[in-house]
This record gives sequence, C-alpha cells and structure tokens, in this order.
Amino acid sequence: MDRWTTIIEPFRIHAVEPIRLTTQAEREAALEAAGWNLFNLHADVVLIDLLTDSGTGAMSRDQWAAIMHGDESYAGSPSWFTFLAAVQDLFPFRHVIPTHQGRAAEKILFTAVGGAGKVIPSNTHFDTTRANVEFTGAEAVDLVIPEGREPATIHPFKGNMDLAALDALLTARGADVPLVMVTITNNSGGGQPVSLENLRAVREVCDRFGKPLFLDGCRFAENAWFIKTREPDQADRPVKDIVREIGGLVDGMTMSAKKDGLANIGGWLAVNDDALAEQCRNLLILTEGFPTYGGLAGRDLEAIAQGLREVVDEDYLRYRITSTAYLGDALDQAGIPLVKPYGGHAVYLDARALLPHIPPLEYPGQALAVELYRAGGIRGCEIGTVMFGLHPDGTESAASMDLVRLAIPRRTYTQSHIDYVIEVARDVASRASSLRGYRIAKQPAALRHFTARFQPLG
Ligand code: F0G
Repeated sequence: MDRWTTIIEPFRIHAVEPIRLTTQAEREAALEAAGWNLFNLHADVVLIDLLTDSGTGAMSRDQWAAIMHGDESYAGSPSWFTFLAAVQDLFPFRHVIPTHQGRAAEKILFTAVGGAGKVIPSNTHFDTTRANVEFTGAEAVDLVIPEGREPATIHPFKGNMDLAALDALLTARGADVPLVMVTITNNSGGGQPVSLENLRAVREVCDRFGKPLFLDGCRFAENAWFIKTREPDQADRPVKDIVREIGGLVDGMTMSAKKDGLANIGGWLAVNDDALAEQCRNLLILTEGFPTYGGLAGRDLEAIAQGLREVVDEDYLRYRITSTAYLGDALDQAGIPLVKPYGGHAVYLDARALLPHIPPLEYPGQALAVELYRAGGIRGCEIGTVMFGLHPDGTESAASMDLVRLAIPRRTYTQSHIDYVIEVARDVASRASSLRGYRIAKQPAALRHFTARFQPLG
C-alpha cells in the first residue's frame, strides 16, 4: 500500500451489463403497479439495486472460466472434488455437504437436531435460520451483547455473543440445547462482526457444557477482515489464517455461497461428527440431491471453489470494507442517522430516527425505502415493522428498530454509482419532514414484507 487514499476497485470491467435510466414518472407508475412494495418491481426499472448482497455479485474472469470446467457427472464429479478441496482449504471439516443455498443447509441441520422442546442460542439468528429452527418446533434465542441492539453505540465487535447470557441459558436449560450457533457477520444486527476473542470464549463455554458450536459463516471473509483490522495482535496475520482459526474453533457450519462464496447460487453444511453427517446426507438425498452435488450443477461447484480462493484476497477485502464505509461516512456527514459502525456488506439507515413524525405502524422504513426508489431508482430493503411487526395471532406492534438496509452486491457497482446513491439519499434526507407513512392494503399471514401491498397516507 502506498500513500494514495482514493478507493479504487481492484479489478477492471471485462463484460458490461446495462442498467436502465428511468424517469420519475415511470418510477411512480411502477410503484403504483407494485403496490408500493419494492419486492414487486421488475428489476429492469431499478437503477442501483441494493436490495441484497446475496447472489447478486459479479463473478470474475476466472470464475467464468471455471464454469467451463464444470463436470456434470451425477456421482463423483471432478467438480465436486475441486469444491471440497476449496472448502476444506479454509474450513477443515471432516464432512462437507453441498446445498443449493444457505437455508437448505439450515433446514437439514435443524431437521436433524431441532424439535419441540429444544432451544438454539445464537448471537442473532438470521430470519431463515430462525424460521428453520422454529419450523421444527424448537425455540431460537438471540444472545447478542447489549451494544449489538443499540444502533448508535460504537463497538468494534457488535456481533459478539453475550457470554454471561449464554452461560445462564446453558445452566438453566443445557439439556435442551443441541448446539450453539454464531452468525458471522451478524446480518440482522447490522452486518456486525464477532471477534476472535469472543469466538474463543464461546468455544470455552460450549466445552464446559459439552455442546457443539456451529457457525453461520455467510460473510466469514468480511468478518475475518474486521478481526485483522480491529482486533489487537491480528493486524499482521493473513486473512486466510484467521479464517482457518475460526474454522478450527467450531464443530460445523452452515454457509450461503451467495455471499462470501462470490457465487450466484450455492451453499454447504459442514460437520465433524460422523453420525450427524450420515443423518444429514440422508436428508440431503431426500430434498437436494446426491452428496457430491447437493442441488448444484457441477459448474456451480467450480464457480464457488474459485470464489473461495478470491474472497480471502486482501486487496479485495480492503476495497470491499472501505467502499462500504465510504457510503456510510458520506451519509453520516449528510446527517442521516445510521447503524454504527457500518456493516461489512451494508449500511443501515435508521428510518425511525430520520422520520420521527411517522409512527412505526405507519412504516417509516417503508416510506424511506420507497422514496429512495421514487427519487433515484435506488432499491433498498425495509428491515423493521413491515418485516417483523406482524405476529402469528394477527396482532401488530412496532419492531425494535425501523431500518432501511442498503446492501452492496460484491464487485458490481463502481465508486460513481455509490456517489450517485449518496446524492439521492442526501436529497431525500433534506426533504425528510415531507415524507408520509403507509398503510397496508393487503397482506399474507406470514413473511408479509415479500408480498404485502401498501397505500400511501396523506
Ligand atoms: N444466514 C445469513 C446470515 C444470511 O444473511 C442469509 C441470507 C442466510 C443465512 C440464508 O442464506 O439466502 O442462501 O438461503 N441472507 C440474504 C440477505 C437473503 O439478503 O441478507 P440463503
């Protein structure tokens, strides 16, 4: 690294994908047709799509080349062995079970270990993890440190597990806990990392209670970069070495390769326990496929293997994390309240703080997300009362926060795209007091954020 401070993408563009400019009138018509739900838009009327960082990244030249090596043999494909070697190079588990994405790994794992009366603690379960735990009748418990629940509190590792709370849960209900989970980075808590010190301590608690420890490893490389840059004595370690230490601290993992696999689809479940692996493989065959492809084409396995080699590249990770922080810093300077520190994969806008005149049950997060699209064609995602406010008994209450997540797809948008996002967000924030809330016109009984239709108020 020399003295230059401009963030540049550590790649140049090899194939281009057009994005379409629309007029505000076109976007207003699109919103009305979509019932003001951004999930209902045709993606070709979205200019900058920050809905998710999952499966939306750009693959490299070498990943596209690897796809040509894809071998589609039903059993024992060479592509499977390439994938296995790449996973085990980072995470040396005895058993690796490929799945079509992260939630398929969760479904299999919790079918095997969950069930009524069981409790699964985590720093914070991602929604699909929680849903898969609860689907078996088990209880999903979030035990993140208190700082992890406060948007404006600065802490280098806001994803850390509350060790005393974990100890207390295992003391009270140890017999009901089949495993402990840690999500890196903590997506639902704002993309916040977990420190190595905390992971080692969680391992120690698990050992004391004789419990296996599992990782939800979706953004493991981003988490390792935060460890390298924020944790004492870690600065001189290669990221790959930190990742290997994390892998060595746990007994298994679930993974969505759509994040730090740098692929558009894929995932895996990995475990060391032979009996559990056998049980999971049998479930895999029922729903995903034979254990050497697990719901993926041979070419997907190749793309993931190459992605795993690229994601631990430190020039890539430096660019990834500093460019997300660049967006965060600019929005912060514009006076937009944010979750801090910024996450690795996303910046989270605090819509409840920006729009205090819109009560939670009129969905400030939705109002902000819709306005970012209406004004500039930017699609973010409400993470608040729309997503979490409806209860199984049909009642509704405010979620703990009303956020809008701007998730950054990997290697996809350039610095000028991000500058445009900043310009639009500034404009929207300057008009914050004129934004109005929404009411829900139609909604399903569960997971309403995907399909609900809204009506603007006032
Ligand atoms: N765990 C975490 C922490 C996640 O962020 C996700 C997905 C999953 C598990 C499930 O993986 O989508 O491959 O089945 N997160 C995406 C998001 C959907 O937008 O944050 P999947």
